[in-house]
Amino acid sequence: MMINFEYVHPFVAGDEAEKMLDRAGDCLKMLHDGKVRGGEFLGWLNLPSRKDEELFERIRETASFLKEKTEVVVVTGVGGSYLGARAVIESLSHSFKEVIQNERHPLVVFAGHNLSEDNLSELVEVLNDKSYAIIVISKSGTTTEPAVAFRILRNHLKMKYGSSEAAERIVAITDPSKGALCEMARRENYRLFPVPPDVGGRFSVLTAVGLLPVAVAGVDIDRLMGGAAKMEELTGRGVSLKENPSVMYAAYRNMLYLSGKKIEVLAASHPKLAFFAEWWKQLFGESEGKENKGIFPASVNYTADLHSMGQYIQEGERHLFETIISVEAPQRRLSIPAEKEDADNLNYLAGKRISHINRMAVAGTALAHSDGEVPVIEVKIPFLDEHYLGRLIYFFEKACAISGCMLGVNPFNQPGVEAYKKNMFALLGKPGFEEDAKRIRERLKM
Ligand code: PA5
Repeated sequence: MMINFEYVHPFVAGDEAEKMLDRAGDCLKMLHDGKVRGGEFLGWLNLPSRKDEELFERIRETASFLKEKTEVVVVTGVGGSYLGARAVIESLSHSFKEVIQNERHPLVVFAGHNLSEDNLSELVEVLNDKSYAIIVISKSGTTTEPAVAFRILRNHLKMKYGSSEAAERIVAITDPSKGALCEMARRENYRLFPVPPDVGGRFSVLTAVGLLPVAVAGVDIDRLMGGAAKMEELTGRGVSLKENPSVMYAAYRNMLYLSGKKIEVLAASHPKLAFFAEWWKQLFGESEGKENKGIFPASVNYTADLHSMGQYIQEGERHLFETIISVEAPQRRLSIPAEKEDADNLNYLAGKRISHINRMAVAGTALAHSDGEVPVIEVKIPFLDEHYLGRLIYFFEKACAISGCMLGVNPFNQPGVEAYKKNMFALLGKPGFEEDAKRIRERLKM
């Protein structure tokens, strides 16, 4: 994995860079010493090097059971309880079939991340004719969206298979000692996996939260964790700051932020990474956007969005910087054939591989955007496989924690998500919200 900051250098003064690097170094030390704000949520930091073999074995067993028994597995969760799993599955799956590493796997679908009656009804319609199981994920065990979806789905499952078979087909991943889901799972005898109390939702992809769904989809979880372990080593205490990719990325993005670049656009130059960008947006957006501070994380897909958002990035307001993720080698071979007629004028590309054309498009884009006053950070992985995805995940998690510390916020909480919930509960008549309900109804003239 390679990170190129060449296109950023013209936008930052040398002494500023040194200062920010020192600050990032201080934050790295504070992180390792558990002295950052939110220090009680640092369980993710050593997950790769302290790999829990027993947990991995249980995950593999449960995944095999679900693979044998089902055609569809519904993962019910929202935010950190689904984005990571979906990002990994979409990054590694065949683009048009339920296949990873040439092996067919059950279709893994996601529910509980919206409140769409149509979406859930259509899912139930499909499940009527399929053999299926549910992995319900909620650390708190009380989040409305997944709880609503789970109630509908478990009733459907019970009607389809009867109570005891339905219980066999439900796996719960939640806090190991408290919460409605934990209690229900114990009462109903569901298979149960813990979300470690010291790992927050958006940092939980390398716990059972991410690992079980991806294992069902055929992802090699040992290789994924191996990649993360390598990155844990490469970003560890002993590594010089300039060699530490997470420190460097955190330092540069904070420098750019202070120079007025308030938006970071993550550009995925491989279509399979489109959902990885969704995971990344939650990681950084929910970790940094607080106390009236924080870089706004946005994303685009190349080359598709060069024909839409590319115009804005090139010439719109200059408050952006861009991080482009590229995959150097494709897994397959496809070249442009020569044609005698050359009716489409593409013979100049005859014999060239599609990946080469993509590389040139991305290289040309980075240069053009940088010339257009958009600083560009390039992140390159040699292959899109479990190992490098594991590296990317840990790289961004650690960079996010360092970056949040540099910004002076607690990157591990999300107090801002409570405001809408209070209003929604009041409007829905949830017991305990009567006073808020009165106030809101007056304001909305309901
Ligand atoms: O990162 C976070 O902590 C959040 O995005 C949560 O993952 C999300 O709100 C879902 O919470 P829970 O797993 O408790 O249902």
